[in-house]
Amino acid sequence: MISTLEKIIFLKGVELFSQLSGEKLAQVSQIAKEVEFDRGKKIFSEGDAGNSLFLIVRGSVDVVKGDRRLVTLGEKECFGEMAILDSEPRSATIVASADVVCLELSREDFYELMADEHEIPQGIIKVLVRRLRNVKT
Ligand code: CMP
Repeated sequence: MISTLEKIIFLKGVELFSQLSGEKLAQVSQIAKEVEFDRGKKIFSEGDAGNSLFLIVRGSVDVVKGDRRLVTLGEKECFGEMAILDSEPRSATIVASADVVCLELSREDFYELMADEHEIPQGIIKVLVRRLRNVKT
């Protein structure tokens, strides 16, 4: 179980949230739900409906499309942001490549945060641009 203080320190180190005030980070730490997955567990599948995004606190996940592993994401990175932004199905399958601890944020909570804090949409754009740049053709 991650303490509130640990959550706040973790969130401060996540690019998306690094600009938020301590007060706001404390608020996010209250609404973010801690979830754990054992190594090898499929967290969700390509084509699923998606209503939340995940921040990796510990461990790593593979992003898999068809039978191809696109990338491995590690601590302080997020996944699941695309489906909550465009309401389309999940674009890839996510598999825990180690035991993973994540913080999960619902679409509703994330939209409220984006409305209040303009650094968050900017941060999401940075994440998406970085992923686009790293796409291998
Ligand atoms: P989403 O489409 O909700 O679910 C699958 C997730 O995999 C997606 O959000 C991103 O978080 C992640 N993802 C998909 N494609 C890539 C990629 N090329 N590089 C990094 N992450 C990706």
